[in-house]
Amino acid sequence: MNASAIAASGLRKAYKDKTVLDGVDLNVRAGTIFALLGPNGAGKTTTVNVLTTLITPDAGKAVVAGHDLAVNPKGVRAAIGVTGQFASVDNLLTGEENLLMMADLLHLPKTEGRRIAGRLLTRFDLVEAAGKQAVSYSGGMRRKLDLAMTLVGQPQIIFLDEPTTGLDPRSRRTMWEIIRELVADGMTVFLTTQYLEEADQLADRIAVLDQGRLVAEGTADELKRRVPGSHIRLRFARRHELDVAARVLPGSTRDDEELALRVPGDGGVRSLRALLDRLDAQSVDVEELSVHTPDLDDVFLALTGHDNKKVNLR
Ligand SMILES: Nc1ncnc2c1ncn2[C@@H]1O[C@H](COP(=O)(O)OP(=O)(O)O)[C@@H](O)[C@H]1O
Ligand SMILES: [Mg+2]
Repeated sequence: MNASAIAASGLRKAYKDKTVLDGVDLNVRAGTIFALLGPNGAGKTTTVNVLTTLITPDAGKAVVAGHDLAVNPKGVRAAIGVTGQFASVDNLLTGEENLLMMADLLHLPKTEGRRIAGRLLTRFDLVEAAGKQAVSYSGGMRRKLDLAMTLVGQPQIIFLDEPTTGLDPRSRRTMWEIIRELVADGMTVFLTTQYLEEADQLADRIAVLDQGRLVAEGTADELKRRVPGSHIRLRFARRHELDVAARVLPGSTRDDEELALRVPGDGGVRSLRALLDRLDAQSVDVEELSVHTPDLDDVFLALTGHDNKKVNLR
């Protein structure tokens, strides 16, 4: 479970004099969801294209599913599935035909192809639509079919490049459910997104990409804690406890009406314990404690100096 699924270091790519990837390092553990978060033009698709062997980086190396990209690209391709920003669904074929075509491309025996296609149609709730041409599908159905096609080859790692861009909120939630299920089944998911909420909801770890550079990497909580504005709110039962706490905790602001105290801090276990120990030493009981963290929008702004929302109007 803890094996590395993707390990990349120093990836660089330039087109003429435009640097698109400027030394990207990535580590994705097997069986987890990793989100590469960044605005339009950050270099997300380029990163996916490098990791999936579609383009060759100018510098850097990467090992994907145990295979070095430069040494064994075929081994990489056999272990991965890719769902691009632009679907590979053939509009003139039915949903089922699209899946069977994929099975043919992968040289699966006919009976196995049919079995896998049937299972995927059921799993993605596309049984009723299976006999209809994909041109009649909604955006959400097309995305599901596209993902199902990626799964025909039973990949260990799947790359989803902006899997929910352009979907309505309901289809987006369905897609999130599906992605969670894939990981529950042991798959590794590498996804790119412009949506902070999506990364927050899905990803075990998030890397923030801005103009070809990673500006931060961590869990959603870790990223949020790095931003100023994190604080701990303590509430007390009695006024004299508030008085004592306000005196011993530096930088705190008190709210006399609520008998509450706001203490700057990151909400990490270590600092919380230290804070409670300090109050304990003064025999002050805390009635209620809550950790307030900024959301990923604040994080993006703090890390990049510009607002993700400006680029992403959703
Ligand atoms: N083949 C190419 N030739 C020239 N510029 C490119 C090419 N592919 C991507 N770029 C540029 O690289 C930058 C990053 O692109 P991309 O990886 O598609 O970003 P994202 O997927 O994050 O929106 C953009 O400025 C884009 O215009
Ligand atoms: Mg892109």
